Amino acid sequence: MFDLVTKVHDETRQGESFAPFAQDPTAYKRRFYIESYGCQMNFSDSEIVASILQQDGFGATRNIEEADLILLNTCSIREKAEQTVRKRLTEFKKLKKQKPAMLVGMLGCMAERLKAKLLEEERLVDLVVGPDAYRTLPALIVEAVSGQKGVNVLLSRDETYADIAPVRLNSNGITAFVSIMRGCNNMCAFCVVPFTRGRERSRDAESIIKECQELVAAGYKEVTLLGQNVDSYYFVPEADGKAVTFASLLEQVAIISPQLRVRFSTSHPKDITDDVLHTMAKHHNICKYIHLPVQSGSTRILGLMNRNYSREWYMAKIDRIKEIMPGCAISSDIISGFCTETEEDHQDTLDIMKYAKYEMSYMFFYSERPGTLAQRRYEDDVPLVTKKRRLQEIVDLQGKLSHQSNKEDLGKTFEVLIEASSKKSDKQWMGRSSQNKVIVFEKGNATHNPGDYVQVKVIDCTQATLIGEIVNY
Ligand code: 5AD
Ligand code: SF4
Repeated sequence: MFDLVTKVHDETRQGESFAPFAQDPTAYKRRFYIESYGCQMNFSDSEIVASILQQDGFGATRNIEEADLILLNTCSIREKAEQTVRKRLTEFKKLKKQKPAMLVGMLGCMAERLKAKLLEEERLVDLVVGPDAYRTLPALIVEAVSGQKGVNVLLSRDETYADIAPVRLNSNGITAFVSIMRGCNNMCAFCVVPFTRGRERSRDAESIIKECQELVAAGYKEVTLLGQNVDSYYFVPEADGKAVTFASLLEQVAIISPQLRVRFSTSHPKDITDDVLHTMAKHHNICKYIHLPVQSGSTRILGLMNRNYSREWYMAKIDRIKEIMPGCAISSDIISGFCTETEEDHQDTLDIMKYAKYEMSYMFFYSERPGTLAQRRYEDDVPLVTKKRRLQEIVDLQGKLSHQSNKEDLGKTFEVLIEASSKKSDKQWMGRSSQNKVIVFEKGNATHNPGDYVQVKVIDCTQATLIGEIVNY
C-alpha cells in the first residue's frame, strides 16, 4: 500500500523522492527515480512525467541505486532552491562513475531558466527538459542513450497535459492534486514563474471533472485543484461554447460527491470573485480555507511588486470573505525586504497580518531572480541582515497568530478527514479540518480508517497542531 502522507505545500517535502507502492505487476526493464522540489505544481507535474515514462516502459523506483534514469524536478523561485538542487547534483557524481550508462535529467523551472547553460555548468546532466516539454522525454532519452545530450525547453501556449492520467506517486490514497491550469500572466515583479512556466492556459474542464470522478471511484476523499492563479481559470468548450469560470468549475467538482472534499490553490487577491466565495459557502464539501498571498502590507511596495491591489483593497477582500464565510481560514505568502522597503512599509506588513489574522503563512526574504521585472528595474537595496531581521519579526508574529487562532478552536467540534496515523504515535490519528488545520486525536476503541470522516472536539493545542477527541453522535 501507500506509505507516505501527502501534505499541502510542505517545506519538509523538498527533494522528496517518490514512487507508487501499489503492487505493480509489470516487469519493467528500466527504472526511473524522481525527486521533486518547489511548489505543489511541480509535485503534480512529476506525476505526469511518471505517466509518460511508464508508457515508455520505465517503472518508478525509490531506490536510486537501481535507477537507469535519475530526474530532478527543480524550482527557481528563490536562489536557495537552485543551490539545493546544485548540491544534490554533486551527490550523484559517485553514482554516475560507478554506472556511466545511468542518465541524469533536470526538469522543471530551473531547466527552463538555465536551458542548455545547465549542460555546460553541470557536466553530469544528460537531459534538460522544461515544464511544457515532458511529452518529448521518451525521444530525448533515446538521444541521450546514444550519447547526445537532450534539451527541450520550448514553452507552449496550449499544453495542459489534459489527456494524461497522472500516476499517483506519493499518495496516501485519500488526498490528490489535480492540475487545472498552467503558467501565469500576472508578472509580479519579484517572480520568475512567468518566465519558467510561460503563458497562462486553462485545462479542458471535462478532463478535470473526469479525473476527479476517477479519483472518487478509486476511493479518494479530497482533491486540491491546482494552478498558479486558479481564479483566472477560464475555459470555453467547443461543444456548447458556454464558458466555464473557476466558480462554475468548483461547483461541478463539488457536486461529483458530497463525500469528496474540494480544496484549491493559489488565489490571487485581485481575481477571487464573490461568485467563488458564494460557491464555497453553498457547498459543505468545498473546504473553508483560502490561500490568499498578500506579499506585502504596504500599498507603495505592492505597487512596485505589480500586484494590482492596495492595502485597503486587500483588507476589504478579507472582510468580504469573513462576511460570506465567517469560519473561513485564510493563509498567506509574505516577502520581507523587497526593493526599497522601509521600516514603515515593514510595519504595514505586520499590521495587515494582524488584520487578516492569518491561520498560517509561508514567509520568505526577498531573493533577486535574474530576468524578473524587479531585477531589471530596481536595486536590491535592503541589506540581507535587515531582510532577515524583518522576516524573523514576521515569523514570530505569525507564530502568535497561529497559536491564537488555534486557542479560539478550543472546545469546538470539527469534521475531520482522517489521513493517516499520527507521526508520533500509531495510537493516534492525524487528519485535517475543513479549515486545513492538522488535528491529532486518540484512535480509542472505535474502528476508523484513513479516509473516514469523524467529528472531533478540540481539547488542547500547540502553535501548529490541534489536539482533539472523537465525539460520538
Ligand atoms: N523572493 C522571495 N520570495 C519569492 N516568492 C516568489 N518569488 C520570490 C522571490 N524572488 C514567494 C512569493 C510567492 C511564493 C510562492 O514564493 O511569496 O507567493
Ligand atoms: Fe518553483 Fe514557481 Fe516553478 Fe513552482 S512554479 S517550481 S514555485 S519556480
